[in-house]
Amino acid sequence: MAPLDYILLRLVRRLLPPRVLRGVLKLGVGICPGLETRQPEVAARRYQEALRAKGRSLEGLDILVLGYGGCFGLALELLRGGAHHIVLLDPYAVPDEAANRTLISRAGPYLEMREGRVVPAPRWITLIHDRIEHYTQHGGRPVDLVLSSSVLEHLEDPEAVTAALVDITKPTGYHLHYVDLRDHFFRYPFEMLTFSEDTWRRYLNPPSNLNRWRLWEYEELFRRHFVQVLCEVVERDVPAFRRARTRIRPQFLCGDDAIDAATRLLVHAWEKRV
Ligand SMILES: C[S@@+](CC[C@H](N)C(=O)[O-])C[C@H]1O[C@@H](n2cnc3c(N)ncnc32)[C@H](O)[C@@H]1O
Repeated sequence: MAPLDYILLRLVRRLLPPRVLRGVLKLGVGICPGLETRQPEVAARRYQEALRAKGRSLEGLDILVLGYGGCFGLALELLRGGAHHIVLLDPYAVPDEAANRTLISRAGPYLEMREGRVVPAPRWITLIHDRIEHYTQHGGRPVDLVLSSSVLEHLEDPEAVTAALVDITKPTGYHLHYVDLRDHFFRYPFEMLTFSEDTWRRYLNPPSNLNRWRLWEYEELFRRHFVQVLCEVVERDVPAFRRARTRIRPQFLCGDDAIDAATRLLVHAWEKRV
């Protein structure tokens, strides 16, 4: 039986108007914004370390950040780390003016004030509030590196988004995607896996959409597009998994607890298929 507080919160979450939700996110009550929004310097360091472990760096790279969330902080950190140009793409984000204002005094040439608002300097940062599919169809800038954090799990159509990302990835390009596999009611990280597709879609799935994809589905997706794919489990929650296991639907289990208990995943992909 699903916990009552879980069911209530999921139902309320579906009914919250987007403006109220944005306010709740800013207050940090119950719903937590992503790492790139909360701590862009930590998010940048995490990407740099993952690249360094593969003998790569940010130096001179054109980078696309998928689902940047509204804060320009990550772009600044990547540029300071040696990147050449950053494309921040998010079809739903609204620039977080308050957060971006706090960055301006240390932003150097990367941000400007225009008509009283913080805007990216076009020489360094391109801001796209559109779907990646449209951006690539209309001559998107080829990039060396594609980054995302807590975005893939929200996609309605991961195949279409990945195919579009691959289109603008240079032949030598690299992808790094951090995926949060948890139910985003974090107290019950595996609860969403206990419901049928119909119940999830009809009553519980939040407006931000949680597609409930598991590690092997991401692996298959990226293998269709890249010769080299590495799916690293970066975090597990074995106690929470064991508590929920008997109620988890079989299609969400592969039988290996090391994979089934994964809560965070890092996908590396390179050598795109021609
Ligand atoms: C949990 S937030 C993470 C934001 C940011 N990456 C962070 O770590 O703070 C998920 C983001 O994915 C974005 N998103 C959802 N669907 C998307 C899509 N099809 N293409 C690009 N971004 C998308 C949302 O607008 C939202 O900003």
